Amino acid sequence: MRVAVIADAHGNAPALAAVLAEIGEEEVDAIVDCGDVAAGPSPAETLRLLAAVALPVHAIMGNADRELLDAHPELATRAVTVVLDIAGLGPTRFCHGTPRSDEEIVTRATPADRLAPILARVVESVVVGGHTHMQLDRRHGRHRIVNPGSVGMPYEVAPGAYWAILGPDVELRRTRYDGDLVPSPPSPDEVVVEFEARAVATPYARLGGHPFFERLVLRFYGGVAGDEILRPLYPGADLGPAEDRLRGFLEQYWGGPTTYSDERGHPRLRMRHATFPIDEQARDRWLQHMRRALDEEHLADDLDDMLWDYLIGAADALVNRRETVRT
Ligand code: HEM
Repeated sequence: MRVAVIADAHGNAPALAAVLAEIGEEEVDAIVDCGDVAAGPSPAETLRLLAAVALPVHAIMGNADRELLDAHPELATRAVTVVLDIAGLGPTRFCHGTPRSDEEIVTRATPADRLAPILARVVESVVVGGHTHMQLDRRHGRHRIVNPGSVGMPYEVAPGAYWAILGPDVELRRTRYDGDLVPSPPSPDEVVVEFEARAVATPYARLGGHPFFERLVLRFYGGVAGDEILRPLYPGADLGPAEDRLRGFLEQYWGGPTTYSDERGHPRLRMRHATFPIDEQARDRWLQHMRRALDEEHLADDLDDMLWDYLIGAADALVNRRETVRT
């Protein structure tokens, strides 16, 4: 199939109307909207325009759409990611930011070591996302990464609404419309630098990103598996799902992808631990296994202290069976 891809319309109804009119003249089978359609000056009007399209529309939830769910509950039907078989490109995964997070940023300057974990579990060879408001068509290993740019709020040099056609190749497009303006600073170059700096400044990035948390939690659960006090507390025969949840939570807490809350909602850890009897002995064992897992990372002192202080406080806050002291 051949599709038109739009993203980040951000409530800019005139821009979306102009792009939809141009799509109407193209031979495409469907439209994929990679999200953040409504947040902006005219949310209701943009949603009306998209709802009136005769073609099938595959709509994806953006981070700004998530924030708008109360005001526009119709956004709730949007998917996290969509896979379509595109002529000439093959199975292609569409998302808002990256397949694992609607807030994660990929630009033309994203280094290979940050891209590798983002793409590690993506079986499709083409990934299409928005979120940065900048068009992109680059390769990394066996993957091709495409961003159609932003319909309503582009960070580009030339005025207009940005979008793309996929199939049989990638065609990055720009449509002029009444009222479009030469974008004011920051320039795309400045935005790229700022985005990349932000992406590496989080504690998540300083700790080593996804591979760090993966190793830490894997080692930690290795310890739990052989612990006669902790192991019986874990409901499943397989500790794998618990491992995924703890890793996802920690990654999110330290500024990484928000996959945990996307899948599980608000963490509410005290409530989620209420059914497991956690006394001080269980807390100390939990911390012991975590300390051992952390020791093997040989982190810089400031990073180790930061993480360890947090873990001690969090574990203590989850104790829900305290000995009552009799006097
Ligand atoms: C104090 C000792 C602790 C014990 C004995 C304990 C035990 C457990 C158990 C039995 C589960 C259910 C396993 C599962 O997900 O299937 C669980 C889940 C979880 N624990 Fe702990 N835990 C402790 C401390 C902590 C701490 C300090 C954190 C975070 C820093 C944490 C984060 C989580 C998370 C994110 C989940 C999954 C919650 C969900 O989404 O359902 N735990 N824990």
